[in-house]
Amino acid sequence: MDDRDEADLDARRRLPDAQRRRAAAACLRALLPAVRIEAERTLGRAESVAFVARLELWFADLHLPLDALFGDRHDTAGLAARIVRQALAAAAARPAALRELDRRREVDPRWYQHPRMVGYVAYVDRFAGTIRGLHTRLDHLAELGVTYLHLMPLLRPREGENDGGYAVADYTSVDPRLGTMADLEELAAALRERGMSLCVDLVVNHTAREHAWAKDWLAGRNSFYRSFPDRTVPDAYEATLPDVFPDRAPGSFSLVDEAGGWVWTTFWDYQWDLDHTNPEVFAAMLGTVLQLADRGVEIVRMDAAPFLGKRLGTNCQNQPEVHDILQAMRAAVALAAPATVFKAEAIVAPEDLVPYLGGHPRERPECELAYHNQLMVLLWSCLATKDARLAVQALRRMTSAPESSAWATYVRCHDDIGWAVSDVDAAAVGWDGPAHRRFLNDFYSGRFPGSFARGALFQENPETGDARISGTAAALCGLDEARERSDAGAVDLALRRLVLLHAVTYGFGGIPLLYMGDELGLANDESYRDDPAKADDNRWLHRPRMDEAAFGRRHDPAAVEGRIFGWLRCLAATRAELLALTAGRTSDVLGLDDPHVLAWRRRHPRSGVFLGLANMAEHPASVDAGLVAGLEQVLGSDPLELRDGRVTLPPLSWMWFSEP
Ligand code: GLC
Ligand code: GLC
Repeated sequence: MDDRDEADLDARRRLPDAQRRRAAAACLRALLPAVRIEAERTLGRAESVAFVARLELWFADLHLPLDALFGDRHDTAGLAARIVRQALAAAAARPAALRELDRRREVDPRWYQHPRMVGYVAYVDRFAGTIRGLHTRLDHLAELGVTYLHLMPLLRPREGENDGGYAVADYTSVDPRLGTMADLEELAAALRERGMSLCVDLVVNHTAREHAWAKDWLAGRNSFYRSFPDRTVPDAYEATLPDVFPDRAPGSFSLVDEAGGWVWTTFWDYQWDLDHTNPEVFAAMLGTVLQLADRGVEIVRMDAAPFLGKRLGTNCQNQPEVHDILQAMRAAVALAAPATVFKAEAIVAPEDLVPYLGGHPRERPECELAYHNQLMVLLWSCLATKDARLAVQALRRMTSAPESSAWATYVRCHDDIGWAVSDVDAAAVGWDGPAHRRFLNDFYSGRFPGSFARGALFQENPETGDARISGTAAALCGLDEARERSDAGAVDLALRRLVLLHAVTYGFGGIPLLYMGDELGLANDESYRDDPAKADDNRWLHRPRMDEAAFGRRHDPAAVEGRIFGWLRCLAATRAELLALTAGRTSDVLGLDDPHVLAWRRRHPRSGVFLGLANMAEHPASVDAGLVAGLEQVLGSDPLELRDGRVTLPPLSWMWFSEP
């Protein structure tokens, strides 16, 4: 077995915090005089003052995690000094327009929490053909109130199958089919002009096996990856490792060749996991982030973050080193490009999620944003069960996230839906976790009798019975099925479901993310089956191309598209004015006497209370009128109706209230 597996990985982490801070302070004292001089030389007087101020503010947050990660085998002081110089070089290369943005963000550091934030997520080719083509879509985004645009992976991928771009062959260039780095820079500038921030993926866990780093590794020129000569170590790890893609990529290791041995491949066999115990990997990835930030990327989506640390005997997710890597990266980027924030892609159990936002026993800056996958999963569970109890239970049990953070709330994204429903929460409402997850798969794949959903099972695992769900939001809400039958009543119900889900994500206090096509209710796209590079991955079902005909109907209030689009515009515009929807404060989910209703309340010291109500049932429900006393309805699927001291909620209705 590898000596690393025997090592005490927590030796440095166990030292008292005060001692670790003293070491960091000593290191900074030694470093400062030289950095001051270098900064003044490369940045000029004013900028260098700002850089040094940031260094003093952030240095401990860089040093502590670097020391925890590498300190047992490397000289932390030397490494920290090198990272600081890397950041200084990136600061010096930062274009003037982005330095201005830095200034603005230093004045308004919580910009990503504003209620006007609305996100949009799209594949460049599927949305607009090319990066240049995107300029013609900016009016569309503005109409939806979008302030944040996440473009799916756009760096140069390997040829052929590439996991939707998540198998990157070169971090320094853009996929030539989409455009160039110059196009990306130009787009970022155009977005900035309109108050929109660009978000791009950092595929940090792995590279394509065609990446130059992998080739150099094979040639013995670096040690960016690990390999194992035989199955001994892989088998030992796999004893406790779940499969991400059990049906077509079982196991977590792939054979390079007889000479090269087994390499770690958490995802597809062409995606090689980097060895994040090597500080050179950290420096290289940091270089990638800094380079993107200097092109105008403002939000870096940390792809597959939970997988960065591997420990024998664990599921190799959410390990302590994952958080150290993100924290060290956070601090280093703050030095060079303070306008930049991080978003964690951590689709994990609720108790593991909040740490990605810096929520540890002692808060530490990590990622500002993270997907609220709990809310997403629970909303779909509500629609299938026509009941809100599980959501109420699970959301109330979640630890609150640090005040400085913001959830990205969403209905659908480009990935499958994995039923991250905890057995504890299921049991608390009298359900069996595994049985409920099976039900959700049956329901959303449409095989449950009476189901309105038209999804597909993703990665069914016959051994464990696990599966996840693919399908567009509209298809999962019953729109495809209703349209197939030309049933106007069923179309109405499907639209009510769809808008209801968005009304929760837009009203929950975070950044709502809209997945491209969902603003028009686009249907499942079966055409992926004809493309050999996609046919085996049914997540393409819910990654349709923009449908120009449907797009043309977005302003028609009588068309399905126009109805959805109209609501989303309304949600965004109303949200923008509601201070209580500022992210960072917790939504209090209320326990009510009607199990069908999800109710949440938010408070803001300057605007008072916000209350959201959503009836998940397909029959009327009601709540005590006292809940809305002193509040006025600001938006809703239906007008407020009070009867016998109750607020009446029609089937699948939702309402937003606020203090006048
Ligand atoms: C992330 C992406 C997913 C991809 C995986 C591997 O989870 O969202 O689409 O397959 O990472 O990169
Ligand atoms: C990432 C996500 C997981 C998803 C997978 C493939 O690992 O964390 O939820 O299923 O990618 O899409």
